[in-house]
Amino acid sequence: MFVNKEIKKIRDNFPILKTKYNNYPLIYFDNASTTQKPKILIKKLKYYYYNYNSNIYRSNNNISKKSTFFVEKCRKVIKNFINASSSKEIIFTKGTTESINLLSIILKNIFNKNDEIIISILEHNSNIIPWQILCKKKKLKLIFLKINNKYNISIKQLKKNINKKTKLISLTHISNVFGTVLPIKNIVKIIKNKNKKIIIILDGAQSIAHIPIDVKDLNIDFFVFSVHKIYGPTGLGILYGKKKILNNLPPYQYGGSMVNDVLYNKSFFLKTPNRFEAGTINISSIYSFIYIINFINKININNINIYEKKLVNYTKKLFLKNKNIILYGKNNINISSIISFNIKNINNIDINYFLNKYNISIRNGYNCSHLLMKYLKINGTLRISYGIYNNYEEIEKFYFFLLKIIKLLN
Ligand SMILES: Cc1ncc(COP(=O)(O)O)c(C=O)c1O
Repeated sequence: MFVNKEIKKIRDNFPILKTKYNNYPLIYFDNASTTQKPKILIKKLKYYYYNYNSNIYRSNNNISKKSTFFVEKCRKVIKNFINASSSKEIIFTKGTTESINLLSIILKNIFNKNDEIIISILEHNSNIIPWQILCKKKKLKLIFLKINNKYNISIKQLKKNINKKTKLISLTHISNVFGTVLPIKNIVKIIKNKNKKIIIILDGAQSIAHIPIDVKDLNIDFFVFSVHKIYGPTGLGILYGKKKILNNLPPYQYGGSMVNDVLYNKSFFLKTPNRFEAGTINISSIYSFIYIINFINKININNINIYEKKLVNYTKKLFLKNKNIILYGKNNINISSIISFNIKNINNIDINYFLNKYNISIRNGYNCSHLLMKYLKINGTLRISYGIYNNYEEIEKFYFFLLKIIKLLN
């Protein structure tokens, strides 16, 4: 397990943590929005543009061959990281949002009128709206699973809602508001026992940087995540899908690098993954992401998970002592690196306004989960989300300033 010395070493990799505002060093607790970037990423992005910048597949010149090699290498590295069966199952997108939108378009032909899609009230807007739009277009029913008192989805309700019309179930792996980890293996077993053909999508935006992922073991059909949430660059996302399903689905966009041949009235598309990657993809980010996975593997994702849970439990203990703090999910056992709370009688906007004066970055508001906030009848939350560089000292400083702000505003 990590000791202070190791965390200090990890922190030294992140130059932004040395920046100051009002003479206060940055305390960054907004990792669920995006994570900070280690020196290796910044170095490798620069290195790519100094040495390899070129387009992939098409040009057949020296540097283009190098870029193509690195893109395929990155697919392999990601395949190993999430334990996919083949690197052909790894598709590059812009992010989780684009991956889910892509799926909602390429899967549209599996549905007949009145079929049903199940999601949950815990979902981020990007795992709600694409399905709402599809349901409107194809006249389908969108079913929302509610949550239990542990801020997890109710298995009883899941069982009750699966029927002959259920074609697709899309769920978050970890709640971006409460940090609740859904028991996906069990959920998949229940779904597949009822009907093997139901397509299962897992939104891994909040799990990829915090818990080990094994798509084979989870037995899901699709897994999506954003690279910027695991210490990588912005503008790059991953869509994992089972090869046998992907090769039978139509492309999402049309253009260069995704065709075998083009006739006057017809075109012939490549197989997965290229058929889903029309145009020029984010090559520099893909190249640099190889080094991020190496960086994470060296630290070890299991160690990260154990450490971040300790930070969460430490924070919860502090919060539970304070009667002004409304902590969401205090009975929640299956947690990851996120905590949501509010302060009695004080607007979360005001708290965040003052935290910024001390250079403490957390998030306030709806957390892109408008429906969940409506369901809980609250006007947003304050959200802390930890990453590998956070430490107990930062938590204590944050808590000290939080108490000061509460006093000031009360
Ligand atoms: C659970 C979840 N899904 C999807 C997303 C959307 O990710 P992105 O904005 O990188 O596409 C987020 C972002 O916060 C998220 O937390």
